[in-house]
Amino acid sequence: MNKIMMANLKMNLNKEEMDNYKKVIENSGINDFIICPSNIFLSTMISSSYTLCAQDAYYEDKGAFTGQTSFYQLSTLGINYSLIGHSERRHVFYEDNNVISLKMQSCVRNNITPVLCVGETKEERENGKTNFVVEEQLKTALSGISMSELTVAYEPVWAIGTGLVPTLEEIDEVHLYIKKYLSSLNINSKVLYGGSVKSDNIKEITNISSVDGVLIGGASNNPENLINMYKLIN
Ligand code: PGA
Repeated sequence: MNKIMMANLKMNLNKEEMDNYKKVIENSGINDFIICPSNIFLSTMISSSYTLCAQDAYYEDKGAFTGQTSFYQLSTLGINYSLIGHSERRHVFYEDNNVISLKMQSCVRNNITPVLCVGETKEERENGKTNFVVEEQLKTALSGISMSELTVAYEPVWAIGTGLVPTLEEIDEVHLYIKKYLSSLNINSKVLYGGSVKSDNIKEITNISSVDGVLIGGASNNPENLINMYKLIN
Protein backbone atom coordinates (compact mmCIF):
# COMPACT_ATOMS: atom_id res chain seq x y z
CA MET A 1 0.00 0.00 0.00
CA ASN A 2 1.23 3.48 -0.82
CA LYS A 3 2.15 5.64 2.11
CA ILE A 4 -0.26 8.52 2.72
CA MET A 5 1.10 12.00 1.94
CA MET A 6 -0.66 14.97 3.51
CA ALA A 7 0.35 18.56 2.82
CA ASN A 8 -0.42 21.00 5.64
CA LEU A 9 -0.16 24.41 3.98
CA LYS A 10 -0.97 26.25 7.23
CA MET A 11 -1.55 30.01 6.60
CA ASN A 12 1.20 30.33 4.02
CA LEU A 13 -0.08 30.72 0.47
CA ASN A 14 -2.08 33.51 -1.18
CA LYS A 15 -4.79 33.14 -3.84
CA GLU A 16 -2.43 33.24 -6.81
CA GLU A 17 -0.09 30.71 -5.18
CA MET A 18 -3.02 28.42 -4.37
CA ASP A 19 -4.25 28.56 -7.99
CA ASN A 20 -0.76 27.60 -9.15
CA TYR A 21 -0.58 24.84 -6.52
CA LYS A 22 -3.79 23.32 -7.85
CA LYS A 23 -2.58 23.47 -11.45
CA VAL A 24 0.80 21.88 -10.69
CA ILE A 25 -0.71 19.00 -8.69
CA GLU A 26 -3.41 18.37 -11.31
CA ASN A 27 -0.82 18.31 -14.09
CA SER A 28 1.39 15.87 -12.17
CA GLY A 29 -1.01 13.00 -12.78
CA ILE A 30 -0.57 11.94 -9.13
CA ASN A 31 -3.94 11.40 -7.45
CA ASP A 32 -2.79 10.36 -3.99
CA PHE A 33 -2.21 13.64 -2.16
CA ILE A 34 -4.32 14.93 0.70
CA ILE A 35 -4.02 18.71 0.73
CA CYS A 36 -4.92 21.00 3.63
CA PRO A 37 -5.31 24.64 2.54
CA SER A 38 -6.72 27.46 4.66
CA ASN A 39 -10.52 27.20 4.89
CA ILE A 40 -10.94 30.29 2.71
CA PHE A 41 -9.45 28.38 -0.26
CA LEU A 42 -11.27 25.06 0.21
CA SER A 43 -14.02 25.83 -2.31
CA THR A 44 -11.66 27.01 -5.06
CA MET A 45 -9.31 24.07 -4.44
CA ILE A 46 -11.96 21.38 -5.05
CA SER A 47 -10.55 18.95 -7.61
CA SER A 48 -10.85 15.31 -8.57
CA SER A 49 -7.03 15.06 -8.62
CA TYR A 50 -6.49 15.03 -4.85
CA THR A 51 -8.35 14.89 -1.56
CA LEU A 52 -9.02 18.08 0.36
CA CYS A 53 -8.72 18.27 4.13
CA ALA A 54 -9.50 21.25 6.36
CA GLN A 55 -6.89 22.35 8.91
CA ASP A 56 -9.45 23.02 11.64
CA ALA A 57 -12.98 24.28 12.24
CA TYR A 58 -15.31 25.13 15.12
CA TYR A 59 -17.33 22.48 16.95
CA GLU A 60 -20.75 24.18 17.03
CA ASP A 61 -22.76 23.57 13.85
CA LYS A 62 -24.20 27.10 13.50
CA GLY A 63 -24.93 30.22 15.52
CA ALA A 64 -23.48 33.49 16.77
CA PHE A 65 -19.78 32.63 16.52
CA THR A 66 -18.30 35.53 14.57
CA GLY A 67 -15.23 34.64 12.57
CA GLN A 68 -15.66 30.88 12.89
CA THR A 69 -16.32 28.21 10.27
CA SER A 70 -18.08 25.02 11.36
CA PHE A 71 -17.48 21.41 10.46
CA TYR A 72 -21.15 21.39 9.48
CA GLN A 73 -20.51 24.20 6.95
CA LEU A 74 -17.48 22.35 5.60
CA SER A 75 -19.55 19.21 5.15
CA THR A 76 -22.03 21.15 2.97
CA LEU A 77 -19.07 22.06 0.76
CA GLY A 78 -18.26 18.36 0.32
CA ILE A 79 -15.21 18.41 2.61
CA ASN A 80 -14.75 14.99 4.17
CA TYR A 81 -11.53 15.37 6.19
CA SER A 82 -10.09 17.72 8.79
CA LEU A 83 -7.00 17.90 10.93
CA ILE A 84 -7.95 18.06 14.60
CA GLY A 85 -5.77 19.16 17.49
CA HIS A 86 -2.74 20.23 15.50
CA SER A 87 0.03 21.37 17.81
CA GLU A 88 -0.39 24.98 16.63
CA ARG A 89 -4.08 24.80 17.64
CA ARG A 90 -3.09 23.43 21.03
CA HIS A 91 -0.21 25.83 21.70
CA VAL A 92 -0.97 29.05 19.80
CA PHE A 93 -4.76 28.96 20.25
CA TYR A 94 -4.78 27.18 23.63
CA GLU A 95 -7.06 24.34 22.58
CA ASP A 96 -7.13 21.79 25.36
CA ASN A 97 -8.11 18.14 25.20
CA ASN A 98 -11.69 19.08 26.06
CA VAL A 99 -12.06 21.42 23.05
CA ILE A 100 -10.44 18.78 20.87
CA SER A 101 -12.96 16.24 22.13
CA LEU A 102 -15.85 18.56 21.13
CA LYS A 103 -14.28 18.94 17.69
CA MET A 104 -13.99 15.18 17.31
CA GLN A 105 -17.67 14.85 18.22
CA SER A 106 -18.57 17.50 15.66
CA CYS A 107 -16.60 15.67 12.96
CA VAL A 108 -18.40 12.43 13.69
CA ARG A 109 -21.78 14.23 13.69
CA ASN A 110 -21.03 15.82 10.33
CA ASN A 111 -19.43 12.83 8.60
CA ILE A 112 -16.00 14.39 8.49
CA THR A 113 -13.07 12.04 8.97
CA PRO A 114 -10.73 13.54 11.56
CA VAL A 115 -6.97 13.25 11.35
CA LEU A 116 -6.14 13.57 15.03
CA CYS A 117 -2.78 15.18 15.77
CA VAL A 118 -0.95 14.21 18.95
CA GLY A 119 2.56 14.73 20.23
CA GLU A 120 4.70 15.63 23.18
CA THR A 121 6.73 18.74 23.99
CA LYS A 122 10.50 18.60 24.36
CA GLU A 123 10.18 18.73 28.13
CA GLU A 124 7.64 15.91 28.19
CA ARG A 125 9.96 13.75 26.10
CA GLU A 126 12.96 14.53 28.30
CA ASN A 127 10.91 13.54 31.34
CA GLY A 128 9.99 10.20 29.78
CA LYS A 129 6.32 11.18 29.46
CA THR A 130 5.85 10.79 25.70
CA ASN A 131 3.65 7.69 25.74
CA PHE A 132 1.65 8.97 28.69
CA VAL A 133 0.95 12.34 27.01
CA VAL A 134 0.04 10.77 23.70
CA GLU A 135 -2.28 8.26 25.37
CA GLU A 136 -4.03 11.06 27.31
CA GLN A 137 -4.50 13.03 24.08
CA LEU A 138 -6.01 9.98 22.38
CA LYS A 139 -8.17 9.02 25.33
CA THR A 140 -9.77 12.45 25.80
CA ALA A 141 -10.21 13.02 22.06
CA LEU A 142 -12.14 9.76 21.83
CA SER A 143 -14.36 10.30 24.85
CA GLY A 144 -18.05 10.41 23.99
CA ILE A 145 -17.67 8.98 20.50
CA SER A 146 -17.38 5.52 19.08
CA MET A 147 -15.11 4.78 16.15
CA SER A 148 -13.81 1.66 14.53
CA GLU A 149 -11.11 3.42 12.51
CA LEU A 150 -8.93 6.42 13.18
CA THR A 151 -6.08 8.20 11.44
CA VAL A 152 -3.62 9.78 13.86
CA ALA A 153 -0.73 12.10 13.05
CA TYR A 154 2.10 11.73 15.54
CA GLU A 155 3.83 15.10 15.53
CA PRO A 156 6.30 15.80 18.33
CA VAL A 157 5.84 19.51 19.12
CA TRP A 158 9.62 20.05 19.19
CA ALA A 159 9.99 18.59 15.67
CA ILE A 160 7.47 20.87 13.95
CA GLY A 161 9.16 23.49 11.81
CA THR A 162 12.48 23.09 13.65
CA GLY A 163 14.47 20.71 11.44
CA LEU A 164 14.73 18.38 14.43
CA VAL A 165 13.44 14.84 13.96
CA PRO A 166 13.24 11.96 16.45
CA THR A 167 15.36 8.91 15.67
CA LEU A 168 13.74 6.24 13.51
CA GLU A 169 13.53 4.02 16.60
CA GLU A 170 11.77 6.75 18.57
CA ILE A 171 9.22 7.26 15.78
CA ASP A 172 8.61 3.52 15.54
CA GLU A 173 8.20 3.17 19.30
CA VAL A 174 5.51 5.88 19.56
CA HIS A 175 3.69 4.66 16.44
CA LEU A 176 3.56 1.13 17.80
CA TYR A 177 2.37 2.45 21.16
CA ILE A 178 -0.46 4.42 19.49
CA LYS A 179 -1.52 1.42 17.39
CA LYS A 180 -1.47 -0.88 20.40
CA TYR A 181 -3.48 1.53 22.54
CA LEU A 182 -6.12 2.06 19.83
CA SER A 183 -6.27 -1.62 19.09
CA SER A 184 -7.08 -2.22 22.78
CA LEU A 185 -10.16 -0.03 22.14
CA ASN A 186 -11.00 -2.05 19.02
CA ILE A 187 -9.99 0.82 16.76
CA ASN A 188 -8.04 0.13 13.60
CA SER A 189 -5.55 2.90 13.10
CA LYS A 190 -3.32 4.50 10.55
CA VAL A 191 -0.51 6.55 12.03
CA LEU A 192 1.24 9.29 10.08
CA TYR A 193 4.46 10.95 11.18
CA GLY A 194 4.80 14.74 11.03
CA GLY A 195 7.54 17.17 12.03
CA SER A 196 10.31 18.40 9.72
CA VAL A 197 9.68 15.81 7.02
CA LYS A 198 11.56 16.81 3.88
CA SER A 199 13.16 15.31 0.79
CA ASP A 200 16.29 14.21 2.61
CA ASN A 201 14.51 12.19 5.31
CA ILE A 202 11.17 11.13 3.81
CA LYS A 203 12.49 7.85 2.47
CA GLU A 204 13.94 6.56 5.72
CA ILE A 205 10.90 7.70 7.71
CA THR A 206 8.37 6.08 5.38
CA ASN A 207 10.47 2.90 5.31
CA ILE A 208 9.46 2.29 8.94
CA SER A 209 6.64 -0.25 8.75
CA SER A 210 4.61 1.38 11.55
CA VAL A 211 4.58 4.67 9.59
CA ASP A 212 1.50 4.68 7.36
CA GLY A 213 2.30 8.06 5.88
CA VAL A 214 3.50 11.58 6.54
CA LEU A 215 2.01 14.98 7.36
CA ILE A 216 4.28 17.57 5.77
CA GLY A 217 4.26 21.27 6.65
CA GLY A 218 6.97 23.61 5.38
CA ALA A 219 8.33 21.27 2.71
CA SER A 220 4.89 20.96 1.12
CA ASN A 221 4.40 24.68 0.42
CA ASN A 222 6.06 24.27 -2.94
CA PRO A 223 3.99 21.84 -5.06
CA GLU A 224 7.01 20.73 -7.13
CA ASN A 225 8.78 19.82 -3.91
CA LEU A 226 5.77 17.78 -2.79
CA ILE A 227 5.77 15.92 -6.10
CA ASN A 228 9.51 15.25 -5.83
CA MET A 229 9.03 13.80 -2.35
CA TYR A 230 6.24 11.58 -3.67
CA LYS A 231 8.57 10.30 -6.40
CA LEU A 232 11.26 9.56 -3.85
CA ILE A 233 9.02 7.08 -2.05
CA ASN A 234 6.98 5.62 -4.92
P1 PGA B 1 6.72 20.89 9.40
O1 PGA B 1 5.21 20.93 9.93
O2 PGA B 1 6.79 19.81 8.34
O3 PGA B 1 6.96 22.27 8.84
O4 PGA B 1 7.59 20.57 10.55
C1 PGA B 1 4.47 19.74 10.10
C2 PGA B 1 3.11 20.08 10.62
O5 PGA B 1 2.98 21.04 11.39
O6 PGA B 1 2.12 19.41 10.29
